[in-house]
Amino acid sequence: MERDPKTIVVGVTGGIAAYKTCELVRGLVKRGHRVKVVMTEAATRFVTPLTFRTLTSEPVTVSMWADAPDARIHHISLAEEADVVVIAPCTANVIAKLAHGRADDMLTTTALASEAPLVVAPAMNVHMWRKPVTAGNVATLRARGAVIVEQVSGELACGDVGEGRLAPVEVILEAVEAELVRVRDLAGLRVLVTAGGTREPIDPVRFIGNRSSGKTGFAIAEEAARRGARVSLVTGPSALPDPFGCEVVRVETALQMRAAVLARATDADIIIMSAAVADFRPAIVASDKIKKADAPETIALERNPDILAELGARDDIRAVLVGFAAETTDVETNARGKLAAKGCHLVVANDVSDPTLGFGTDENRVLFVTAAGTERMDVLAKRAIARELLDRTAALVRSR
Ligand SMILES: Cc1cc2nc3c(=O)[nH]c(=O)nc-3n(C[C@H](O)[C@H](O)[C@H](O)COP(=O)(O)O)c2cc1C
Repeated sequence: MERDPKTIVVGVTGGIAAYKTCELVRGLVKRGHRVKVVMTEAATRFVTPLTFRTLTSEPVTVSMWADAPDARIHHISLAEEADVVVIAPCTANVIAKLAHGRADDMLTTTALASEAPLVVAPAMNVHMWRKPVTAGNVATLRARGAVIVEQVSGELACGDVGEGRLAPVEVILEAVEAELVRVRDLAGLRVLVTAGGTREPIDPVRFIGNRSSGKTGFAIAEEAARRGARVSLVTGPSALPDPFGCEVVRVETALQMRAAVLARATDADIIIMSAAVADFRPAIVASDKIKKADAPETIALERNPDILAELGARDDIRAVLVGFAAETTDVETNARGKLAAKGCHLVVANDVSDPTLGFGTDENRVLFVTAAGTERMDVLAKRAIARELLDRTAALVRSR
């Protein structure tokens, strides 16, 4: 069967491993992809553009200022065409530029302009790699969702021994293919995501809230939209900007969140409830600011509706239902209890007792709990958690 060709933009930077990119490019072409190579000036010292032009049958771009193949602005058209951008080898210099949003050559400008998944395969001297500044830049890229294809240990071209060698070409190829599978695999599906924490008013200026930042839910919504889903994001107050391509409904209270969710739930194929919804709200909301002298000793609370349980119990909701469990003790047991009690298909559990992970941070360590078993994930960027979660949720939709 003829495959739909995908466009892979391959960035080549000035490292000795640039010669291995010839094999990578051949492998991508062999797999039926259209490959467009962008080189830094430094990369052309190691391999010539002619080599890549011959391997790809496509023009190779080095300069921002060269004549573009058509009338469009070339770095923008390349950025839009790309289904995946892969940079291999990626120098310490380009990693630093990507981490800081610099765009002073064709490759970094294209990468910044592109919404496509970014795969980065670093290669460099072991001391360059181990410098805290490089490690910090790599962590920044990872936290933003870039896939880092880890270097391997061995003898380096400079004579040093250690991690620094470009990952094997086969491993980079697989990382690119994994991103391609995810491209538009959710097309045609409606995904409803909740995010952030709710605020339950005490009076016009005070509220009961929680520490949820919304980062996980926003990452899920953005990733689902990127993969072709029609996404509605219902979020409590969050400082984060609207994710690209999603319907965003900003609410304050648990009751408002319930109304916004129920209005969309029967149409959804996937519902991911990552919001931290307040379990209780003040029973009486003062219409004027409560004066210090009049403040009551206690605030009477009443229970908020359990939106997740309500969705799980309704027969007219056909969506795959995902709940989140933030726990401080017995994480897996409590998550498994929630799976059964709330009628969820999957519960994402995390231990919020570790202050370096979870609320407000860019990374988290989670468990995926389903009827089939439990998967313990490593510490991952929230974007990567979104990716892994959507892989599993899409599989649940397909298995029905
Ligand atoms: C022989 C040689 C090999 C190099 N290999 C690497 C390398 O593997 N990784 C790296 O980060 N820099 C390497 N460098 C340094 C980069 O080429 C240099 O930082 C350059 O400015 C990178 O430009 P670019 O990031 O725009 O491609 C090497 C330099 C030379 C002369």
